[in-house]
Amino acid sequence: MNTLDRKGHIGRTREVRKEESSCGNTLNAEQAHPHVASYNDWVDFTLRDADSRDFETLWRIDQQCFVQGIAYSRRELAAYMSLRGAFTIVLTDEESQILGFLVATTRRDGTGHVITIDVLPDARRLGIGSKLLSAAEERLRKLECHSVSLETAVDNRSALLFYKRHQYFTLKTVPRYYSNGVDALVLQKDLLSTAQAS
Ligand SMILES: CC(C)(COP(=O)(O)OP(=O)(O)OC[C@H]1O[C@@H](n2cnc3c(N)ncnc32)[C@H](O)[C@@H]1OP(=O)(O)O)[C@@H](O)C(=O)NCCC(=O)NCCS
Repeated sequence: MNTLDRKGHIGRTREVRKEESSCGNTLNAEQAHPHVASYNDWVDFTLRDADSRDFETLWRIDQQCFVQGIAYSRRELAAYMSLRGAFTIVLTDEESQILGFLVATTRRDGTGHVITIDVLPDARRLGIGSKLLSAAEERLRKLECHSVSLETAVDNRSALLFYKRHQYFTLKTVPRYYSNGVDALVLQKDLLSTAQAS
């Protein structure tokens, strides 16, 4: 069977289908077990493509970002990262520790799709998600994508504010998209008109 992402409509996976998307049920810092200390004195970071040695770390970050049942299994995450046209960008600190990552893919119709974006709970609100998203958008533009879309849960307030900040607009609502019955919003951004702005 095909696996699929929690935010997209790329394929079908075991019994869960697309409802197992996870952009709705995030863990807060208290629920998660962050591996990072405080980054109030943030100084440096690096963006790079993920390699196979990163996989376990990425999976563990995903487990911290989403509740059980919504977070990806290793098999799911591996499947998305290896989709044709997919790329994974990681952001590391000055000690080469991964603080966040993003998986995206391209589609034949010239659109991009963000499969997931995950920032460790203790590393949020420091611009890491923004750097990952901007890097992915730039990559998609180079791959000649004219727009990018994604799904997020209607109750994922931080993600909605984050995407609003990045000029995503709501395309439609998908009722009961997630396995817990929560609706998803499909968000989209025009990559051509925003090339200079982002
Ligand atoms: C959504 C997520 C990726 C944002 O990452 P981040 O590194 O914290 O984002 P940034 O620091 O770049 O935030 C940029 C802006 O987005 C908005 N924003 C992000 N998180 C916010 C929050 N919790 N509350 C209000 N605004 C928020 C703010 O405008 C923020 O700018 P500001 O800090 O100057 O006010 C992160 O919260 C996360 O990993 N969440 C869990 C997984 C998830 O839900 N992923 C998205 C699923 S679709």
